[in-house]
Amino acid sequence: MTATSKIQDFFQGKINHIFILGNCLEKLKDIPSESVDCVFTSPPYWQMRKYDLSSNGTVHLGDEDDYRDFVNNLADIFDEVKRVLKKSGSLWLNLGDKYHNKNLMGIPWRVAIELQDRGWILRNDIIWDQMKGTQSAKDRLRDVYEHIFHFVKSKKYHYDHDAIRIKPKKKPRKTNGSFVSATGVSGVKYRKQIAESEALNEEERKNALQALEDTLLSMRQGEIVDFRMTIRGYQRTFHSDNKKVSGRAKELADKGYYFLKMGAKGHLPSDIWRIVPEDKWRKDAHYAVFPEELLLAPIQATCPENGIVLDPFSGTGSTVCTALKLNKRGIGIDLSENYIKLSEQRVNQAINLFNSV
Ligand SMILES: C[S@@+](CC[C@H](N)C(=O)[O-])C[C@H]1O[C@@H](n2cnc3c(N)ncnc32)[C@H](O)[C@@H]1O
Repeated sequence: MTATSKIQDFFQGKINHIFILGNCLEKLKDIPSESVDCVFTSPPYWQMRKYDLSSNGTVHLGDEDDYRDFVNNLADIFDEVKRVLKKSGSLWLNLGDKYHNKNLMGIPWRVAIELQDRGWILRNDIIWDQMKGTQSAKDRLRDVYEHIFHFVKSKKYHYDHDAIRIKPKKKPRKTNGSFVSATGVSGVKYRKQIAESEALNEEERKNALQALEDTLLSMRQGEIVDFRMTIRGYQRTFHSDNKKVSGRAKELADKGYYFLKMGAKGHLPSDIWRIVPEDKWRKDAHYAVFPEELLLAPIQATCPENGIVLDPFSGTGSTVCTALKLNKRGIGIDLSENYIKLSEQRVNQAINLFNSV
């Protein structure tokens, strides 16, 4: 079967994944415009190439002498990615930095700024804290992080934030006859503070007490799992007491109290992710395999059910494997014939694994 007929079969929904062998700048041209929901990828880093390009390794992205050529070559590829991405789509780009003549080059940000200049909207710079790193230089600190940039094509894009909420570990419960929050807050201390407060007038005291009872009720009804109440005269606001700087300071000044509440749905992940990379255990096969955990939130948040995930530098096929596990469809492109074969094997193993469960 030719690559073109495989691509046709994929877009007619006959198959749920494809791996395409070749230079992604060329191969992306075979993919229809505005057909992909989400791209997650990690291109070769500048002057760090150690991949298997034995089969047709004439294109050496990452080998450019001048970092400006690397930035431009990469941005040309992402112009093509932008064409294939739907208006509601997202691009997640993982990049690491490089020291050149002792100078930290800031390559990830140079690429990000070039992409912004070419029309992409940058929504997040996620710091991927890899927790351990090699140390060769003795005159600077250890490097342990890389960037994952989240770009979009338009201001309105698909983002299912409920799909990636971190669920609270503890729930409210009954203990010694009283109902307490996940961290043991019953409201008794706040009731006392309100009753004894000299900084609240009679009206404010009544309203604060009512607001506290309403909050306790919403906890009993399972809408929130935890809360803290700040009452005028007892606690300072978290950020600042300046009304202009802090909305909470304004609430405290206007009403005499405010709440911090943790909803039962959980909270959104932050932009620092602590995930150990997997390349240590796969050194025989590939140097930069994505850990599955890295791919989960981006795909869950920005690819709808049965949507299409693309990785134009797919290596061993991790992005496509995870996309399939999450009920999405996947396209991988790579220059190495060996990696394409390895990717097919990984996907087949993963499919056999789902079928046997
Ligand atoms: C950082 S690795 C990606 C690893 C991948 N994320 C994984 O989990 O296995 C970069 C990949 O880009 C491929 N590559 C390099 N230049 C390419 C090009 N011009 N077009 C397509 N693939 C390319 C390399 O063969 C390598 O597998």
